[in-house]
Amino acid sequence: MADSPWSTLGKPAREFNMGQLKLNGRVFLAPMAGYTDTAFRRLARRHGAAMVVTEMVSSRALFGNGREKSNELMEFTEPERPVGVQLFGGDPKIMGEAAKLVMDEVHPDVIDINFGCPVGKILKCDAGSAILKEPQRAGWIVEAMVKATEGKVPITVKTRAGYDAMDNAVFEVLEAVEGAGASALAIHARTRSQMFEGKANWDVITRLKQKAKIPIIGNGDVKSAEDAYNLFRQTNCDGIMIGRGSMGSPWIFEEINHYLETGKPMKSPSLKFRLGVALEQLQCAIEVRGERMGLLEMRKHLTHYFKGFDGAKEMRQNLLTSNDPEWVMKSLAEIQASLPAEDPAVPVA
Ligand SMILES: Cc1cc2nc3c(=O)[nH]c(=O)nc-3n(C[C@H](O)[C@H](O)[C@H](O)COP(=O)(O)O)c2cc1C
Repeated sequence: MADSPWSTLGKPAREFNMGQLKLNGRVFLAPMAGYTDTAFRRLARRHGAAMVVTEMVSSRALFGNGREKSNELMEFTEPERPVGVQLFGGDPKIMGEAAKLVMDEVHPDVIDINFGCPVGKILKCDAGSAILKEPQRAGWIVEAMVKATEGKVPITVKTRAGYDAMDNAVFEVLEAVEGAGASALAIHARTRSQMFEGKANWDVITRLKQKAKIPIIGNGDVKSAEDAYNLFRQTNCDGIMIGRGSMGSPWIFEEINHYLETGKPMKSPSLKFRLGVALEQLQCAIEVRGERMGLLEMRKHLTHYFKGFDGAKEMRQNLLTSNDPEWVMKSLAEIQASLPAEDPAVPVA
């Protein structure tokens, strides 16, 4: 399409190679511990995310008494494919063994490494963004994982712009993991010390892309289709990942794909549509995780779905304090059914 933003970005919209894996799009769901559970990942895929990733799993726990919890975190359903399992750990040998185990037992399409988590207990195991203090070790870890999996599954990494400062460390990580056989690098454009504060610095993504031989996936602060276009345009990155912008709105991937393909914004989803998606997610969470856990896991998602409309606060208060899954499901279904197909027009002031 002549006026498609993709034509100005100079990339084929629906082609993205991650090693031997061919993906049908360039916009991915970012891994988020406690959020990107199987129900949410399924919805993100159905609403246009080209790939999804599990919550992070400890490589050590796979060989110890955290195995049961790890199995839960790694569990995914076929409609989620292509799906990556994200591992964290600092020991190349254990990460290699963990990658082999995950490949043989779970069969994901990608194994991703978390080199970005800023949380103290992860840093203490030399994992997450601790790698930015010793970029060479990133290469050793990737090398061990590529070797252990015999190149049969793409190994990708996700990291941050720096540890305390935006220095050279992330470029050294890129060089090390590229040399060791990583298939892509995703970059959350904040330092470890920034946590999630301040604005993401997309310049780092631009500079990484200029140096990289492997695909670079930009991440940080994309909350709309326009942000997505700007991130591609400003940085020339190969793909993008959306985290918080998808909470309570997994259709954001569709909105971005539509905008990039047509140059036009998609019509805003009605409240009926939005609560329909929430209901579907609740049904899926209960189906997969059982009534009690499904409802518990869904509470934080419902907080995001019930925002920004009249009466949202009261509905949130009722639905989020009930321990009765059947009642919550019934009430949500009734609210959704009672809504008009289209939102009433807002009078122009
Ligand atoms: C609640 C939460 C949990 C997260 N968990 C992970 C994780 O397990 N692994 C990871 O690589 N990044 C994790 N992240 C970081 C996100 O993947 C992403 O890099 C970050 O939120 C910036 O992107 P955004 O501005 O689109 O949210 C998490 C972020 C949030 C908000």
